[in-house]
Amino acid sequence: MAALRDVVDTLIEAADTMDAGAWEQEIVQALREEIDHYDWVGFYWVVNDKLVLGAWDGPEATEHVTIEIGEGLCGLAASQQQTVLVDDVKEHDNYLACFPETRSEIVVPVMKGDRCIGEIDIDSNTPGAFTDTDRKQLERLAEIVAARHYGL
Ligand code: SME
Repeated sequence: MAALRDVVDTLIEAADTMDAGAWEQEIVQALREEIDHYDWVGFYWVVNDKLVLGAWDGPEATEHVTIEIGEGLCGLAASQQQTVLVDDVKEHDNYLACFPETRSEIVVPVMKGDRCIGEIDIDSNTPGAFTDTDRKQLERLAEIVAARHYGL
């Protein structure tokens, strides 16, 4: 398995070689393919005060293409403007189930200044899959994404 740090380095290096939309698709694909415990990876973007699904990669589409701010783990991360890391989604009150296989989840806000413009959402079929390394590397990536993103 590739190290997350190396995958993020490669993605950041590739940022200037493609437009933001193609780069966001590359991000979700590379993260899901290279990191074993990432089973579904997607971006949500804040559009008219709701989260709207952007680029994603995974075995199945989610029915949650629009999520209210505050609703689910995605809405929580957007309203708190902080990363939400959940070891066991079944134990969390504010969880919106997408896939029955999902056991843990991380949602990392994409911040432009003090405004949350979107987020990276990753589901894992492994319980407690996400560590502080995931958080740090994904937050690093989210900073560059924030600088490049121009819209859905
Ligand atoms: N589980 C998320 C919803 C999005 S899906 O995981 C793709 C949530 O609780 O907000």
